[in-house]
Amino acid sequence: MARLLESTTELRDNLAAVRRAAKRVGLAPTMGALHAGHVRLIEHARHDCDCLVVSIFVNPLQFDRQDDLERYPRTLQADLDICDALGVDYVFAPTEAEMYPVPPPVAEVGPVADHLCGRHRPGHFRGVATVVLKLLQLVQPHRAYFGEKDAQQLAVIRHLVSDFSLPVKIEGVPTVRDADGLALSSRNQRLDRADREVALSLYEALCEARRLISSGVRVAETVKQAAAWRVPSDDRLRLEYLEIVDPEDMQPVEHIDGPALVAGALWVRSTRLIDNLLCNPPAHRS
Ligand code: PAJ
Repeated sequence: MARLLESTTELRDNLAAVRRAAKRVGLAPTMGALHAGHVRLIEHARHDCDCLVVSIFVNPLQFDRQDDLERYPRTLQADLDICDALGVDYVFAPTEAEMYPVPPPVAEVGPVADHLCGRHRPGHFRGVATVVLKLLQLVQPHRAYFGEKDAQQLAVIRHLVSDFSLPVKIEGVPTVRDADGLALSSRNQRLDRADREVALSLYEALCEARRLISSGVRVAETVKQAAAWRVPSDDRLRLEYLEIVDPEDMQPVEHIDGPALVAGALWVRSTRLIDNLLCNPPAHRS
């Protein structure tokens, strides 16, 4: 049975006992509404660690739009059932008051957050970094697990951990997709059948970029323009960005000479979806 902990004191007490027993602690932070993407993350963590903590907290600091925060799905009982079935030891599901004083603390993020989602969602990664720093301090895991679906988030967290010399290993977990390629996301719940069909064009655009890059097209602008054509002009859709960046520091590249991350954000009516693919150009011939 996964044990539900709602207060930071309870969490600290339970984990102190775990640490005394020298167990390897893993943390998988989530905002709940668990789906198969989260399940993959939790399974990875379960495999590596003796004691697994899953956090479920819809972090208000990382929402740049009040309506998105209010509409975010909250399904705690179903989430607990999933955690039980996966052999999670502790589910940490605090209230906002339990997590943050008023006013809340702020963790700053550097240039890794300047582009992609960071550019379009002001303050978002500051909110992510703040909650993750807090969770890492509370749980003090040996390893913490994050999905590659949120590649910029993963990069922000890797920088945070390195900048503050936090004693934790960050593990990236590959993106889980539906059979047709749509990346799983808690926000997919808001799409009806027709929305879902057009939403797939983001993945199709990324695949087109990957095809062009692997066939030797090296000018990023050419790749971006050709890929963006895969998103049809449709009243329901707005391509917020489609960028090609260095996978480590998330800075835009003009010429693709090595591994490149193609990342995009697509609005489907009032739902914002993100996705990315890591692409490799062919090796240079000498
Ligand atoms: P959330 O969107 O709930 O995602 C929790 C974790 O699951 C993240 O690391 C995310 O990258 C991963 N994930 C989501 N969809 C995935 C998919 N289709 N395949 C693989 N992994 C996937 O990301 C957050 O919450 C929050 O920002 C959080 C890190 C918890 C901080 O509040």
